Amino acid sequence: MADNFEYPHCADVSKYEKLMKVGQGTFGEVHKAIHRRSRQLVALKKVLMENEKEGFPITSLREIRILKLLNHENIVNLIEICRTKVTPYNQKAVFYLVFEFCEHDLAGLLCNPQIRFSLGEIKKVLQMLLNALYFLHFNRILHRDMKAANILMTKTGILKLTDFGLARAIHPSVDGKKVRYTNRVVTLWYRPPELLLGERNYNAAIDMWGAGCIMAEMWTRSPIMQGGTEQHQLNLISKLCGSISTTVWESVENLEYYNKMELAKNINRNVKGRLHSFVKDPLALDLIDNLLKLDPSKRLDADGALNHDFFWSDPMPIDLAHTLSRVTTSMFELHTPRRTGKKFNGGVLQNQQKENHPTKTNAAIYDRVF
Ligand SMILES: Nc1ncnc2c1ncn2[C@@H]1O[C@H](COP(=O)(O)OP(=O)(O)OP(=O)(O)O)[C@@H](O)[C@H]1O
Ligand SMILES: [Mg+2]
Repeated sequence: MADNFEYPHCADVSKYEKLMKVGQGTFGEVHKAIHRRSRQLVALKKVLMENEKEGFPITSLREIRILKLLNHENIVNLIEICRTKVTPYNQKAVFYLVFEFCEHDLAGLLCNPQIRFSLGEIKKVLQMLLNALYFLHFNRILHRDMKAANILMTKTGILKLTDFGLARAIHPSVDGKKVRYTNRVVTLWYRPPELLLGERNYNAAIDMWGAGCIMAEMWTRSPIMQGGTEQHQLNLISKLCGSISTTVWESVENLEYYNKMELAKNINRNVKGRLHSFVKDPLALDLIDNLLKLDPSKRLDADGALNHDFFWSDPMPIDLAHTLSRVTTSMFELHTPRRTGKKFNGGVLQNQQKENHPTKTNAAIYDRVF
């Protein structure tokens, strides 16, 4: 019976030929593949079913539902869902999400010191990222996993935000009751202070913090705050953004872990000072400063960021097609020395916690800015 079972809305994945592995995520592997007949390149993201007792994983269902809803030039296009054929010998179908293929991810590109972006090109990348976030937030969706590896680039220089495995819809509060989302989201290095302090009634500002971290990374070329634990991450945030206190963030004392975590005292905010040897443009520094506000209610939203003078002064945003046309091999995080902040909990990359300075040759990859 099993071999006769059909999934009417799910094509057989054998119409694609796998070419190479380009990603290994928490929720599955990603392969570059080619459509055998049309020769169209795609990315096949395998749905990990191993721990699933109750059928199709919820993270993949969410990802599919949200991606089907969103249609935007800067958000990755989900082409279809495919599955392997069920046979008497292999009774469990394996499912794949089939995406348009993008040649690079931003983490991979930034790890390669030979790829240099001009200020106009950096503006273009950030403008495309903020356009994606504006569209998402306007449609009341939170991404909840902003990081450079989740930002894809096509060879023609179009940015595509991807990985909606943690994304969710924003609910309006009913009868004035606070919404309680799960707090355990966002890769540690890009996690905003409100999440680290236990906020469950968060909003789009959590993605804007990630956008601020990624913006700085366009110049530093490696994640700016590489904490090993939640506590360490909070310390790094305070070093850069100053002490977390009611003086700068009035409602912070209401957060569950405000009195449970150690919060460094009497540190001045110094975002511009600490970044200015990397980021020479004063408008860029000002935008980063406004995206990395400790108090989420003071952080710029996507609309505010897009209207910042940074995008409306010379050099204006400029297309990346020319620069990327000279990059002949794909750049993915998977193919670089690991630089992933662990999702949900800290404790990884002990070597990156050491305060030692990187050697010149590996500075582009291992450089810890703070
Ligand atoms: N459409 C695509 N084209 C090219 N590469 C892709 C595509 N989608 C994903 N990748 C690569 O695969 C990696 C993992 O994909 P994705 O982030 O969707 O999976 P994940 O399991 O949710 O990852 P993680 O949990 O590590 O964030 C990406 O960082 C990227 O390098
Ligand atoms: Mg990912």
